[in-house]
Amino acid sequence: MSYAANSATCLERILKAVDLQGLSKKDAALFTRRLRTHFPALFEKYTHVYGHQYDCYFHLQNLVEVLRDGVKRRKPSLKQLDEQRLRNPLWYKSPKEVGMACYVDLLGPELKDLHDRIPYFKALGVTYLHLMPLYSAPEGDSDGGYAVSDYRKVNPSLGTMADLEILSEALQREGINLVLDFVFNHTSDEHAWAKAALQGDTQYQNYYYLFDDKSIPDQYEKSLREIFPQVRRGNFTYNETMEKWVWTTFNSFQWDLNYSNPEVFNAITSEMLFLANIGCAALRLDALAFIWKEMGTNCENQDKAHTLIQAFNCCLQIVAPAVVFKSEAIVHPDEVMKYIDKEECQLSYNPLLMALLWNSLATRKTRLLTRSMQKSFTISDQCSWVNYVRCHDDIGWTFDDDVAHELGINPHDHRFFLNQFFTGRFEGSFANGVPFAENPSNGDCRVCGSLASLCGLEGALADNDKSRIDDAIKRMLLLYGITFSIGGIPLLYSSDELAKLNDYSYRNDEAKCHDDRWVNRIAVTKEDTQLALTARSQMLNQEQQASLRVFKGLQAMIKVRGERDVFGDAKTHIIDTGNPHCFAFLRANNNGERLLVICNFSEHTQHMHSDILRNLDSGQTKELLTNRNFVINSDALSIPPLEQVWLAN
Ligand code: GLC
Ligand code: GLC
Repeated sequence: MSYAANSATCLERILKAVDLQGLSKKDAALFTRRLRTHFPALFEKYTHVYGHQYDCYFHLQNLVEVLRDGVKRRKPSLKQLDEQRLRNPLWYKSPKEVGMACYVDLLGPELKDLHDRIPYFKALGVTYLHLMPLYSAPEGDSDGGYAVSDYRKVNPSLGTMADLEILSEALQREGINLVLDFVFNHTSDEHAWAKAALQGDTQYQNYYYLFDDKSIPDQYEKSLREIFPQVRRGNFTYNETMEKWVWTTFNSFQWDLNYSNPEVFNAITSEMLFLANIGCAALRLDALAFIWKEMGTNCENQDKAHTLIQAFNCCLQIVAPAVVFKSEAIVHPDEVMKYIDKEECQLSYNPLLMALLWNSLATRKTRLLTRSMQKSFTISDQCSWVNYVRCHDDIGWTFDDDVAHELGINPHDHRFFLNQFFTGRFEGSFANGVPFAENPSNGDCRVCGSLASLCGLEGALADNDKSRIDDAIKRMLLLYGITFSIGGIPLLYSSDELAKLNDYSYRNDEAKCHDDRWVNRIAVTKEDTQLALTARSQMLNQEQQASLRVFKGLQAMIKVRGERDVFGDAKTHIIDTGNPHCFAFLRANNNGERLLVICNFSEHTQHMHSDILRNLDSGQTKELLTNRNFVINSDALSIPPLEQVWLAN
């Protein structure tokens, strides 16, 4: 029998066996209709991973029950939203979409305080709010909330699930999409499943990767990398209570879930649907690259990781089609691309653009950026990049070594240079960054620091150097300007918009001092947001003035972005400018709108032949950031130091 016939027979049997009595007539009809549409794909994915197990169909039936319960618990208002989004599935391509990621405690400090921040978000133009993990987590170090002890409970220091639902409704009313984390590669060692495992319950021990001795872990270890080598070597942790080794890719208190066990897939689907039913527009798939382990590989980006994510996506289509997935794959660019598909993740962070923007700031050269974007920027029309400059994590230099080699750049030495540059060890560097995760065995390292400090504001303020302050501000606006114009959802990282400097206070906190990423997890107070909304610059000190200039600069660019369709659903062509310091791209949509963006990464005015303007296909051009008709002097086009032009036809 064919797959299709198998899946149809299987669905009929399951529908006979599964009790739909608890659903209203309407829900039962909706559920069966959606099942008929999406079950064939779900069946294919599920049996691809679990088909060889004798009890696969038993688990598949249980999964259908999980989905049924998800439909039952979905509120009517969210069901309406589902219909709306099904009619307009590409909402995330609107030029109005602008995201912000923030920690509730650093901005609130509680969930209920965020209601008062809504005017601030709106003033800036934010339409998408990612709240960093806010679930119940271990006291002290919880990897910034990425060690989840209970997906259904809000961390009591931030409020309650009821507070979150109220906030989610308030955001929805204001047109702001809520984005939540789905941390599904691991749970904390305090999660109920881990606790049961600790008590010797074998059913729950099978939820994780546990080993009686080190021999199998040692075999895996041969081909694994280490994520946090400064705090713990290797990927396994010995647990004295169970007398077993536990797979812990990240910290020792984050236990990797065992997805070769279908029960884990079903259980985590139930948690995922709970989160979807809070009312979020997107789930951020944390550390998704790591969910499938295969001996002899690096256990990242395995084929079955993709199959599982597609299966999760089928489940969402059945229960909560308003929700999309955002991929957080900070891996080789070719691997990042593989998660991006309407059937897998509709959204994805763009770590390559992020890293190469910083690279161009350091080198003042754009060829690696240009060549890499030419190779890796184009994705499916039905998906979107989430372009960012900074986030709560470190910066890793995940560019493609082959592209570097092509350009005669030695990737190893170049990464070493970038680390030296951004940690301020390179003479003449403007950056104040902090090294992160230095690996004593191979010297690898990544970089932490706030946008402002990495762009040179910290040093310039300390020396009270006006022209360096100007340069630092220009760098910040340059990087963000590219994320606003290149196509995709730009994602601001809370505190960047106010040019906040590194916060070194984590060094005095026992739960944080070993993790330098805290240097770029920075509070934004009520005073800060007030300053941005109301202050006049005469009364401010240098630091506040810089803050305000960056805020106003970003706000103005976001406004321009929102006013033209070409910033939304349009194609991006990366252009060779012929000038080694300039990066340029053309945006064009089906209505004949065109936008040419040219960016100068150097501290000197750059010139190029005005032929580049032919891309606009029009005699008249307007520069959108200055709102002036653009005048060309003779044949040459000049771009001022560290500035960009947004030229429209
Ligand atoms: C993601 C998060 C990071 C966390 C890791 C483990 O990469 O962004 O902060 O440490 O996953 O959950
Ligand atoms: C690694 C992981 C990434 C995570 C980061 C945390 O780079 O690939 O997922 O965000 O570590 O530092």
